Amino acid sequence: MCGIVGYVGNRRVVPILLEGLRRLEYRGYDSAGLVYHLNNRLVRYRAKGKLANLEAVVDEHVGAASSTGLGHTRWATHGAPTEDNAHPHTDCSGDLVVVHNGILENYSALKAELQAKGHLFTSETDTEVLAHLIEDALTDDLVAAVREALSRVEGSYAVGVLWAGRPDLLVAARNQSPLVMGVTEDACFIASDIPALLPYTREVIFLDDRELVVLGKGEYTILQVDDGAKLVKPVTTIDWNAAMAEKAGYRHFMLKEIFEQPQAILNTISGRIIADTGVVDLPEIGLDHQALKAVERIALVACGTSWHAALVAKYWIEKWAGIPVEVDIASEFRYRHLLVNERVLTIAISQSGETADTLAGIRRATQLGSKVLTICNVVGSTMTREADGVLYTHAGPEIGVASTKAFTCQLTALFLLTLYLGQLRGTIDPATRRYLGGGLIDIAGVINAELPRLQEEIRDLIERYYDARDFLFVGRGLNFPIALEGALKLKEISYIHAEGYAAGELKHGPIALIDRDMPVVALVPKDSTYLKSVSNIEEIKARQGRLVLVGTAGDTHLTSLTEDVLYLPEVLEDLNPLLYTIPAQLLAYEIAHRRGCDVDQPRNLAKSVTVE
Ligand code: M6R
Repeated sequence: MCGIVGYVGNRRVVPILLEGLRRLEYRGYDSAGLVYHLNNRLVRYRAKGKLANLEAVVDEHVGAASSTGLGHTRWATHGAPTEDNAHPHTDCSGDLVVVHNGILENYSALKAELQAKGHLFTSETDTEVLAHLIEDALTDDLVAAVREALSRVEGSYAVGVLWAGRPDLLVAARNQSPLVMGVTEDACFIASDIPALLPYTREVIFLDDRELVVLGKGEYTILQVDDGAKLVKPVTTIDWNAAMAEKAGYRHFMLKEIFEQPQAILNTISGRIIADTGVVDLPEIGLDHQALKAVERIALVACGTSWHAALVAKYWIEKWAGIPVEVDIASEFRYRHLLVNERVLTIAISQSGETADTLAGIRRATQLGSKVLTICNVVGSTMTREADGVLYTHAGPEIGVASTKAFTCQLTALFLLTLYLGQLRGTIDPATRRYLGGGLIDIAGVINAELPRLQEEIRDLIERYYDARDFLFVGRGLNFPIALEGALKLKEISYIHAEGYAAGELKHGPIALIDRDMPVVALVPKDSTYLKSVSNIEEIKARQGRLVLVGTAGDTHLTSLTEDVLYLPEVLEDLNPLLYTIPAQLLAYEIAHRRGCDVDQPRNLAKSVTVE
């Protein structure tokens, strides 16, 4: 939530800030702003709404002589999305500016204290407090003043600070909000996420909580916020490139990311499974084999789409590795009474590795003695650094706010983990392992072959549905979480109210919603629950529900139930979730596009939820 970017070097700063903000806009688009040093002054531009509004006032000539600056794109927490509340925020003099991602929880008390001292506030934000706190502490040592101010605030922050009095310096710090530095020979960058750095460098340093960095042209010093002690931190080389975070001719990032799934799944599998035997090797997992063998229970923790991946994994792990699995939404897990201990393996699933609730969940699990494994897409993110072990998905950068390829890669990684646990614990025989492993290797090819046809059929089909007010999605067993995922995708990008249900649960209440205006998308592959699902579909049809069925090629019974059938090839029953996700994603995408919605940046949302 909120993106910050900063640069100190020899190049023109404004284009670098705008490009960085464009690449971080997925983090929030309520307002955007930037500031740069020029002739011992700070020049600030801000605009309400999307980055395009800022770009309209900051043309290419603005700040041409400046090579130090900060930018911000906002997801509003405190204060409405107005220009006054847009970052950067200044102190009373306008000589000191702050950009911030996070929440300063004790800002009201600090604001009252500062106002009593005569400080004048011009916004409703929590962030502005920090600018005035630094002003209050500042004599001529900016770093000392920032440290002093940070010692007064409670809550989360990734901040960037500039002061007219030191045009050669940019000071940044983090606590519980992501911040990464980029380094080159003659310049330093800060950003909330790696894509903002990719056009300039792949050499990065991940800052940890309560660390502060002082950036100059090609030089930097990292300090502890609390005691000012100097730190030496490793430089990591990122294997993403700038083109991976571009649309590559697609209308939207979401569509590009849907079509990237076959390759992303292959990347996640690559080098981890032997085709002939199905033997899985996860050397990087970083957890002791004996400990994994002895695990008595697994706690899966995640939010949103990643939680749906966890729900699928429960079916797989219990069936093939014989380990009881609990699945929690992270915001519940972190606050409930947990029966978690050293015999429980906690697995956190997260695309970003920065989601505040999931991060808090793994911290609690660690306190209770549980080992933590993170399944994550972003190398070096906070969760990957705090967990005991990491299994990376290799989806590549996901920019669309609606998660697509990250989800199918999470499923892929979780299926690999299932096979691995089964192999370690001897719960899968070699023939079954070969069969399941072979199915996983094949699934990317199947999805690749089906994508173009599915998109075309779904484009025609949605003409009859795009203006619906509500939608239901139903599925059984492994496809129940996919029904939840289909409903989430549709509501978040098209703003149509949608719910997902276990098909057998409909008659316990939701069936009352069925009438001739209610579209129901039913996932009904020819699997072990097929006949039960068909009975549920008959019940919907008997009440005039408008059925869209997604089933197995050749199942002619489905066309006797409705004219709207999407067929998919038969794959291993266990892998249906990967395949049945694809039409659900395309349905949401095509409906949202047809309704004229902003697919990549839906209202009220941000990609990385770093606040509670
Ligand atoms: O980065 P994470 O996987 O931890 O994010 C979790 C959710 O915020 C995320 O999946 C969200 O639900 C997406 N908008 C879904 O498309």
